[in-house]
Amino acid sequence: MSDTMKLIIRNAEVLHPDGHIEKGDVGIAEGKIKAITSQIPDQGEEEIDGTGLTLLPGVIDPQVHFREPGLEHKEDLFTATCACARGGVTSFLEMPNTRPPTIDQAAMDDKLKRASEKCLVNYGFFVGATGDNLEALESVNPACGIKIFMGSAHGALLVSEEETLEPIFANGKRLIAVHAEDQARIVQRKKQFQGATDPATHSQIQDNQAALNATKLALKLSKRYQRRLHILHLSTGDEAELLREDKPSWVTTEVTPQHLLLNSEAYENIGTLAQMNPPLRSRWDNETLWKALLDGVIDFIATDHAPHTLEEKGKGYPHAPSGMPGVETSLALMLTQAKAGRCSVSQVSYWMSTAPAKAYNIPNKGAIALNYDADLVLVDLNTYSPVRREDILSKCGWSPFEGWSLTGWAQTTIVGGQVVYHQGKVNSEIRGKALQFNAG
Ligand code: DOR
Repeated sequence: MSDTMKLIIRNAEVLHPDGHIEKGDVGIAEGKIKAITSQIPDQGEEEIDGTGLTLLPGVIDPQVHFREPGLEHKEDLFTATCACARGGVTSFLEMPNTRPPTIDQAAMDDKLKRASEKCLVNYGFFVGATGDNLEALESVNPACGIKIFMGSAHGALLVSEEETLEPIFANGKRLIAVHAEDQARIVQRKKQFQGATDPATHSQIQDNQAALNATKLALKLSKRYQRRLHILHLSTGDEAELLREDKPSWVTTEVTPQHLLLNSEAYENIGTLAQMNPPLRSRWDNETLWKALLDGVIDFIATDHAPHTLEEKGKGYPHAPSGMPGVETSLALMLTQAKAGRCSVSQVSYWMSTAPAKAYNIPNKGAIALNYDADLVLVDLNTYSPVRREDILSKCGWSPFEGWSLTGWAQTTIVGGQVVYHQGKVNSEIRGKALQFNAG
């Protein structure tokens, strides 16, 4: 071992790409993993004692809303990525519904510049479809994919009609990620439920059928043009059952921890804080989504981190905006499920790191392997501590999971070989890098 390691993590339970976990040392130099072995003989410039802790690849969160530019009173790229660092999230893919929206090269360039100045972790951005920016959807660079809001959006980013959707599927090769809800059905049902002030009505208006209709339409168009499709935040058992029967090899899907772990009973306890799009569903949906995830019908996990202030959420239904934060709690939530026997630690890591890297063709990330980027998280799977409002680093300052006792909290988060979070402290000097996306 002649090279001096910049950083060595000693004696951690290391998750290997084949899923086995074994005690050892991991050495990092030039931002990359340079040694994975039972014991590195030489001293590193910096060392972290991983005894009793588990070393996983950093989480890649493939669906977040970080609000900058234009909505910085809810979140900005700095506060959001402090929250990422605390949550073990080392890379994210962000959605285009900022102000202005990310629908052309100028908006993408602006986001990338802001990200290079403010992001503590690695970043990538979607280009948003508007129905009349077909050319930009292929030319804007770099972009991890095209985002289409088929429903639950306002203004230019809402593309709900089949005749407007079809040319997007027909032209170009990029991954298309859809928010699949049937806008016409939502509009019609809103009228039916006019005057309702119970937040639980949200799940009735934007019901399972609304999600299923849109998922069917996206699948139909994807099959017609054999177009790479990703269905964002699958929320219903109905969609999971459909995909179990009919999922072409070029289609992927994801689920959020909220749709796995919360259901419409949550409105009773946390009211509009439980309001998101697509909405929370029933226990049956939770169970059916879990089964689909475990069986590989659902490919990976995203948080749909969509912060709103408590003041905005306090407006009550139907005036409160939809969305919940997620990057700070997602890994601990899922590892707590693993410890409870619902799945394994290596499955959690596959769903939260390996599979998103693969789906979005992000090279050298999502595994602890030689010459991979040193994006890592050291978690403590032995102790439990609660989600507390006062600990939240997201600017919104709340979590739908407050009071939940979780294990697997990040102790140390490393981005490109640099320690960005360690035992409760964020190193706000660290900056991530723009993610690369290889051709599919
Ligand atoms: O609940 C949601 N809120 N779902 C989305 O897809 C968008 C998001 C937001 O931006 O607030």
